[in-house]
Amino acid sequence: LNVLSVASEVFPIIKTGGLADVAGALPSALAEEGVTLVTIVPGYPAVLKALERVEVVHQYPNLFGGPARLLSGRATGLDLFVVDAPHLFDRPGSPYLAPNGRDWPDNARRFAALSRAAADLGQGVAPGFTPDVVHAHDWQAGLVPVYLSLAGASRPGTVMTIHNIAFQGIFPADLLFELGLPASTFTVDGVEYYGQIGFLKAGLQLADRITTVSPTYAKEIQTPEGGMGLDGLLRSRSGAVSGILNGIDEKVWDPSADPHLVQTYDRSSLDSRVLNKQALQERLGLKPDPDALLFGVVSRLTEQKGLDLVLAGLSRLLAGNAQLALLGSGDTTIEESFRTAAVVYPGQIGCFFGYDEALAHRIQGGSDALLVPSRFEPCGLTQLCAMRYGSVPIVSRVGGLADTIIDANEMAIASGAATGLQFGPVSLGAAIDAFERAKTLWRDRNAWRQLQMTGMQADVSWRRPARRYADLYRACARAA
Ligand code: ADP
Ligand code: GLC
Repeated sequence: LNVLSVASEVFPIIKTGGLADVAGALPSALAEEGVTLVTIVPGYPAVLKALERVEVVHQYPNLFGGPARLLSGRATGLDLFVVDAPHLFDRPGSPYLAPNGRDWPDNARRFAALSRAAADLGQGVAPGFTPDVVHAHDWQAGLVPVYLSLAGASRPGTVMTIHNIAFQGIFPADLLFELGLPASTFTVDGVEYYGQIGFLKAGLQLADRITTVSPTYAKEIQTPEGGMGLDGLLRSRSGAVSGILNGIDEKVWDPSADPHLVQTYDRSSLDSRVLNKQALQERLGLKPDPDALLFGVVSRLTEQKGLDLVLAGLSRLLAGNAQLALLGSGDTTIEESFRTAAVVYPGQIGCFFGYDEALAHRIQGGSDALLVPSRFEPCGLTQLCAMRYGSVPIVSRVGGLADTIIDANEMAIASGAATGLQFGPVSLGAAIDAFERAKTLWRDRNAWRQLQMTGMQADVSWRRPARRYADLYRACARAA
């Protein structure tokens, strides 16, 4: 079975969040299931630089405002198709934002171009490549099912995956013709969304199947509170919606062979893990103290991630002998708050602002607990990494966090099933309760060790999810 995966970012070449991790891990995960999955990505400078064995498979005299080429090649072990359109993608920095921090004004055209090229591949423009299924990720690929639906009888099956319904790709209606969308598509059954063009909305309307990245989020987005305007559409298509949890790449996230750690370890050598804690304390200017309960955070800084609860609860979080190590990038107001907090609590709070892959691994390998207090969380990957690394996840009971962490309630502790702490609702009071519970457990080092050991044993790999994607692809593949 051949699948084309359409993504606006892919690890390790270009990443702003979990979507890149997923897009980067799917090919090898699906290979185990007998599915050949090739990814199409925009030709950002980093992608073109990494691309080897380049072939030109198609030429566009004019792709939304300039000439473009569709390339195939390999980069960092991935088979890729690349949309080489310098007028759209030859820009430094973030894949979505201009240097002024705002969305690029032509994002509609940029990601319509990605979707157009993907649909063309679905229609067989590349010699020798006819995908049975095209798998579109997030709004940036939302027009793929639309362009393919216009293609007529023989088209591949289409899957639309929602990684985050907060980002919907909504653009002015007057772009319709420019984006190659005929008037017939501007209806409630097509791309029209409250008088505008909704990329994600369109994809959800027209894809054969819809997935999101956890069963709980699949339910949440069908409610007015969680659907961000798309819940009605999703309810009307509920038979086509499923939730498939993400995994993590066990080669990238392996504490027994992680080059970023000062000390590698596994379940049988957990005692040596303290060397990573020591190194982390040193790196972030925290008081060197093996007995302090060291909380970690690795996160985009945005409203979604609920870090305001950590800020509001800081005095309770840090009371007794506790510390906080935070790695984050994004919202500058949240960043400023933590910067100030680090001044208020010298030696107890250590922060690094920016994107730092190595430090993300060091926090997973050196913290005692990892905080993920999200207001909503489609799946979440850092809590999975934390389990693998023996950092006890403390999470809000939403989305994928609810589906992946087993709360340390009395029965779960007694039966050895607990892997972390959950709190709900997402409120300051509930978060503080969880901090207090963590401290009580920390004082009982055997109990804590048990949580770590159980978490490290949990299967957070892509094996189960890959099987589910393979089944889904088979169910909606193009009829031969
Ligand atoms: P989201 O996609 O919503 O940001 P996920 O938990 O799914 O959340 O994925 C986040 C990914 O990005 C993880 O791989 C995490 O390690 C990584 N990450 C987040 N913030 C940073 C950062 N500042 N530096 C390095 N990696 C980060
Ligand atoms: C999104 C979500 C996150 C999810 C990731 C990968 O960025 O916010 O919860 O893990 O996509 O699916």
